Amino acid sequence: MNERVSTGISRLDICLGGGLETGIITEIYGEAGSGKTNFCLFVAINSAKTGTVIYIDSEGVSSDRIAQITVDQSILSNIKFFRVRSYDEQLETVTKIANLSQAIPDIRMIIFDTITAHYRAERDKRAELRKRYGNTLTYQVEMLNNLAMNLNIPVIIVNQVYTEKDSSNVLPVGGSGLAHMAKAILKIEKTGSGRRDIVVMKHRSLPEQKRCSFSITEKGIE
Ligand code: GTP
Ligand code: MG
Repeated sequence: MNERVSTGISRLDICLGGGLETGIITEIYGEAGSGKTNFCLFVAINSAKTGTVIYIDSEGVSSDRIAQITVDQSILSNIKFFRVRSYDEQLETVTKIANLSQAIPDIRMIIFDTITAHYRAERDKRAELRKRYGNTLTYQVEMLNNLAMNLNIPVIIVNQVYTEKDSSNVLPVGGSGLAHMAKAILKIEKTGSGRRDIVVMKHRSLPEQKRCSFSITEKGIE
């Protein structure tokens, strides 16, 4: 059986076939406010109990929310936050992490929340970078995929959505590159006030459309 890392909620772990798979990218997408960041912060704080978590943050994570979720504040030093303010900085940061990864002890998980925020906002910049370096989003995803494999850890990549004009379907941004590279794709859907479903969209050992429920609460998720 492929190794798993716990989400911190045993009910979710069981539903997800044991937790988050090591050695692969898990993509998480969903509408604004669906709970992607809450899920990632909760998982990061749980994993930081056993080692280092790298959290690449493009949106400005809420320190209030981190304080609400964290029971033992001393473990927060195990989460290395990398704040990226532009698409350029994002590319540099992923490259830096890939180069530094052997020197950082005990990396248990890498989270990128959200890989497509600057990508989407900086279309022109991206076109210029593509001329110089090729497809830079695919390049970043490849680097993160290598880290997942080489360090045998879960890498979580958060993605934004757009609504397809004809069908009104909510789809992930960023083209098929990420969708191919991510071996697990989970969508988060709002099902009620504070209630959320993780819907399995792609997985190597779970059926499509399997649903795992959780709630967003004052203390995190449960
Ligand atoms: P974007 O980054 O904007 O795409 O959203 P996201 O998917 O990352 O959503 P996020 O994790 O930021 O979740 C926001 C949701 O969490 C909002 O609907 C909030 O109401 C909810 N939330 C935040 N704190 C609490 C809380 O203390 N209690 C409850 N019940 N909900 C909360
Ligand atoms: Mg978010």
